[in-house]
Parts: sequence; structure tokens; C-alpha cells
Amino acid sequence: MLRRLMTALSIAACLAVTAVAVRAQETMRGSARIEALLARMTVEEKIGQLVQMPGGRQRTPSSRINDEERARIRAGRVGSYLNVAGAAETRALQRIAVEETRLHIPLLFGMDVIHGYRTIFPVPLAMASSWDPAVPERAARIAATEAAAAGLHWTFSPMVDIARDPRWGRIVEGAGEDPYLGAVMAAAQVRGYQGADLSRPDTIMATAKHFAAYGAATGGRDYGGAEIGPRSLEEIYLPPFYAAAREGAGSFMAAFNEIDGVPAHANRALLRDTLRTRWHWPGLLVSDWNAVAELRNHGVAGSEADAAELALRAGVDVDMSSQAYANALAARVARDPALRALLDRAVRHVLIAKERLGLFDRPYARSDAAREAGAMLTPESRAAAREIAARSIVLLRNESGLLPIAAGVRRIAVIGALAEDANSQLGSWRARGNVEEVRPLLPALREALPRAEIAAVGNDIPAAVAAARRADLVLLVVGEDFDMTGEARSRAELGLPGDQQALADAVLDTGKPLVVLLMGGRPLAVDRLAARAPAILETWFLGVEAGPAIADVLTGRVNPAGRLPVTFPRASGAVPFPYDRLPSGRPADPDPAHDTVRYRDLPITPLFPFGHGLSYTNFTWSDFAVRPLANGSFRASVTVRNAGGRTGDEVVQLYAHDPVASVSRPIQELRGFRRIALAPGEAKRVSFTLSPAQFAIWNAGHWRVEPGEIQLMVGASSADIRGRASIRIAAAGEGREPPAAIFTSSSEEPIR
Ligand code: NOJ
Repeated sequence: MLRRLMTALSIAACLAVTAVAVRAQETMRGSARIEALLARMTVEEKIGQLVQMPGGRQRTPSSRINDEERARIRAGRVGSYLNVAGAAETRALQRIAVEETRLHIPLLFGMDVIHGYRTIFPVPLAMASSWDPAVPERAARIAATEAAAAGLHWTFSPMVDIARDPRWGRIVEGAGEDPYLGAVMAAAQVRGYQGADLSRPDTIMATAKHFAAYGAATGGRDYGGAEIGPRSLEEIYLPPFYAAAREGAGSFMAAFNEIDGVPAHANRALLRDTLRTRWHWPGLLVSDWNAVAELRNHGVAGSEADAAELALRAGVDVDMSSQAYANALAARVARDPALRALLDRAVRHVLIAKERLGLFDRPYARSDAAREAGAMLTPESRAAAREIAARSIVLLRNESGLLPIAAGVRRIAVIGALAEDANSQLGSWRARGNVEEVRPLLPALREALPRAEIAAVGNDIPAAVAAARRADLVLLVVGEDFDMTGEARSRAELGLPGDQQALADAVLDTGKPLVVLLMGGRPLAVDRLAARAPAILETWFLGVEAGPAIADVLTGRVNPAGRLPVTFPRASGAVPFPYDRLPSGRPADPDPAHDTVRYRDLPITPLFPFGHGLSYTNFTWSDFAVRPLANGSFRASVTVRNAGGRTGDEVVQLYAHDPVASVSRPIQELRGFRRIALAPGEAKRVSFTLSPAQFAIWNAGHWRVEPGEIQLMVGASSADIRGRASIRIAAAGEGREPPAAIFTSSSEEPIR
């Protein structure tokens, strides 16, 4: 009885909306300084704070700043800039805002600092492959240090959109298909950018984007609508946003897409009811580029003024570059005094962000030319980029131990144009990254293997075949270049572009030992290649230290331990195919003669499953056990031993399944993971502490814990389960926190 009561209480504590009275966002007030400013501001000055102007294009920041822009600042008609960067440039404009405007309100400078500012790290999808939140956190910290030294206050990152359809080009910018992994990576990046105190001059404000379900675009077509139900929205797409909000992300960006007909920039239920009222998030909500005006294209606004009013009412604070607020809000506010409170609310959010960043007290702290000169691409940042890149590589296959490259290998043929494509290693957003600063694969490999004879051939098939014939080992570098993923870069075909399959077939026909190095920003449907290639390494786009990092893994200096954050499909027509599918009334059967949920022309398994990745060593798993804790939680533990001869990392993955519930539940859901390092022979006991709240289900507007059995699986991938156990949830509970955002605590202890 007592135990039941305690369990119920602990569930209530975890889940229930706590009695702590969180002030309703709608009535939130700023500091005395902010309220005093608001009281003095004219409607035009208020609208000015909501206007974000583009200061240049991505590659040419600050280029649009002219006398007209300076006059705009002086008149208090702009609150922030996008793509103005550089200590000198930002300082000069800040000086106008602080010294020459009536109210002396400083400007905010924002930019897409996505995976590095000058030191470019692996693309986000690659960093998520590390299954180590310290990786993106460290990259974000370095990016913030560099960007802040160049006068920036605000990055439009992390992109925390769950991407389950690899046709969607922006899959490269996020953490893949899983809400739990996505939530962990989202929180890590927010911590990295914002540090412990956002007022310090080496921090920048993070933006969780694109709110919400941007990655759910039907057919993977960028900017397309999402046809998802409320449960998918809550359970799959929102958890990383919730995690970012809980981590204190200063800003959110609304998404270009609509959900079931409601464009995000007009979605009051999402932007206000969910984000502000239910989550109590106090930050600054920015539109996506031109998206306020684009409400007309969506067909929900008849004029620019309607669009502006709709967005303001829905909860969009800042209008990024569409000018709809600047052009049309004043007249609307004059006509309808009820809009004044909404205008004030939006302005308050901008001013609070400026205050949080310390700008009222130290407006020039980040625009420091001396610091800028010394902060960029330091040897320490390069070293970090190399480690981070190596930790992001995934060994997908390694038959007959082809890797690491054996000492006796003398002649190596490196085949494929991507091997020399330094530009692609910078990925889709590159802030101030320079291609000349990328260390590509070939020179790095020559440096790592000074005694080997390394021949390189691009895509000339006869020359490639001739080089392969002369070689002891072929490294076949294939995939997509940087321009095939990213915004507006959705693709219907996920196979190898161009003549790369023909090149691969010709080289494979030589029968020489061959390692495929895949490059790209999405999982590719390389079934045909994988059917023949004995070894495959997924290297994504790895940033400025791509070459040395790949060479580290090829030579065995680093033992790879990345794991896939996204399922690899067998065919373009077989997506989306996430691992956490619902079971169906007719679960997939390998026998195509049975009528089950599958394609007739493909096996029921993906090419490579979520969570998959190999090592140069091997691990044995034993003693998976689960026990209840006094507070109603559970502890699940497993022992992992390095049974091979090399030091290496294993990623222990914990999945859950609710076999009987009020609604159909996914066949597996990630609920915890831990990347551990083990020396040869060493063993560790890895434990996860799970609360019943982590099995809550979104149902009819609430998160509910249902009593009953939960099956737990521990494994080396979603398809390589090494232990199973069951727990019983004793009591029901109800609350509001997405379970995937309640991080599982884990620990590791050495075993003698
Ligand atoms: C459009 C993109 O969707 C968004 O992610 C980005 O931050 C803005 N452009 C600004 O460049």
C-alpha cells in the first residue's frame, strides 16, 4: 500500500504540472529598466525593435549596410540584424544605436552559426553520430567563442527538427530521426552556445528551430506541409524543442511549413498555447526568413497587413527580413488598440533578450577587434575539430578486418572525385569558414602513411580501374557533395548521384580489397554498393579537420565508435522508415507470401539500422538486470567487456516498448544511451535510472502514464538487442512533460 502510494507520488512529482505558480507568460513583465523603456517608446520605436534586417547574404555579411541602413538605425526602426558580422562592423552600428538614437537601445546581431563560425566542425547530423552530447556541446562552445568575438550575439542554431525522411535536404542540419537522441543533442548545443551565463561576452543566444515539424514535410519536399496528428507532433517532433526550452534556449524560430493546414507563423495553438502557456518558455520568438509575408502565399492572409497581424497575434515577436511588421503593423495597432498589449509583449521579449545578453550594460563587449584577431581557428580549436570529427565517423561494415589499414599495405588507390573536394567538407552552412583552411583527405593520408604509395583518380572509370589493379587496397570515395543537402535541396533519388555507381562497379570488378568511404549529408540508398563492398565507413562532411580525422580512423590511430542517428533505407521508395514504427495489425514478416506491412520487392530490414556502428574491437554483453527503486523508478544495468585487443568505445543503447496500451505504441523507443571507453579486457557495468514518466503517452491533450508492463531492451543498435527485461508500472499518472525530454540518468562503474 505504502509502496503504491509512494510510486504514485513520485509519478505526480515527475509529471504533474507543479504547483509552483509559474507566471503566465502573457502577463510576464520585464525588469524596471525594460518597463520604463516600454513606457517611453512610440509605436514606431516598438515596431522597430521587432524588425530584423538582412545585413548581407550568407557569404557577404555586412555588405548591405549603407547610409540608408545607418539612417534606419538612427531612427530606431530596426532592432536586430541578420548577417552583419565582424568586430569593427558591429561596433560601428552598435555605436549609432546606443549613442545616436532617442532611447539608446542596443542592436542584436544574429547569424546562422550552425556547426562552427571560423573553425568548421562536422555537420550536425555527423556530430549526432557521435552519440556523445559532449561532442556538439564542445563544438558549440568554440563556435560561440569565435562568433561572439566577431560581434555576434545570436545564432540561428541548433536546428532540432526530427528528420525521418532522408529526401528532405535539411536532414543534414539536425540530429536525425529520433526524439530522444534529438532532445539530448538539442540541450547539449544550447549549453554550448549559451554557456553558464549569457551575459558573458563569449556566449551567444541559441535558437531552437524550426518550430515545429518542419522535418515532417510530406514527401521530404522542403517547405512542404506536414500531415501529422497531435500525438506524432507531441511525441516525435516536439521533444527536442522542449529539451531546448528547458535548457534555457533564449530564442525559438517558427517554421516555414504548415501542420494540417495551419502555417507555423499563424499557429497560435503552437506558438502561444504550447510554447508559452504550457511550457512557460519566456524567450524571443523569431520568424523564419520572409515567412511573415509568406503567410499570403499560404493563403491564410489576404494582405501584408493581415499577415503581420496574424503573426503578431500568433506570437511571432521578430519579423526576419519580410518587412511586413515595418510596413503594416502601425496602422493595424492604430485601428485596434487591443493589439497594443500584443505589441508590448513582443517588444518585451526583444528587450529581455538584450538585457540577458548584457547589452544594456556592455553593448560593445562582444565587438572586440583584439579578441576577434586572436580567437579564430586556434590550434586548440583545430585539435578539437579533429577529435570531434573522428568521433563522428561510423564504421558500417568491416569484413575480413580490412580496416584499420594493415602495416603491409604499400600501394593505395584513392578513387572518386569527393576525395579531393575540400569545399564539401564545410557542409551546407559555413559561416566564416574558408575552404583553404580545410585539410582534405589525400594530403592527410599521405602524411599518416608516409611509406605508402598513394595514387588518386577522380571519376575517370578506365583510369580508376587501372589504378585499382596496381593497388593493394582501394579507397573508394563516393556519395553526395555539400550542395546536395541543405535548405531547398530535397531530392527524390537517394542513390549515388552521377556515374558513381558505374565507377564503383568497375572498380569492384577488379576484385581488389576495397573500402568505401561514404560522404554526404543524408543516408543514401546504396543497397547495390553495399551488396558488394566488404568495408564501408560513413564519413558525412567533417569540417576543417576532415582529412586527418578520416586518416586517423583508417590507420587505426582512432578506433571508430559513431552510431547511426538515422536509418539507412534500401531504396529511395522505402522512406520514411524510422526504427520506432508502430507494430501494425500485420507485423512485417520476412516471407513476402504473407500479407504483412512491407514491400514485396525489398527485405523487411533497412540497409543499416538506427544505432548501428562497428568497432575495431569487439564487446561482450552480459547480466542485463532491472530492479525497482524505492522512489518508484527503476534501475537497468548491463555489463560490457572489451573482448578484443584494442581500446575502443561501445555505445550502450536502452530501448523500451509498451506492449499493451490505450493506443498502439512504437515497437522500440530509445530511452537512454551511454558511450563508454574500454581498454582491452576491461569491463564496466552501465546503469540507467528510468522513471515511469519516461513511458508516458500523449493522449487527448495530456501526458499519461498507464499502469502495466514495459519491456526494456539493451543493445548495440536498434537491431542488435543483447538483453531483455520487463518492468511493471504500478500506478497511473498524468502530466505535461514530453517523456523523451526527461533524460535518463546513467552511470558506469569499472568491474574487476
Ligand atoms: C532560412 C532558414 O530556414 C533558417 O534556418 C535560417 O536561419 C534563415 N533562413 C536565416 O538564414
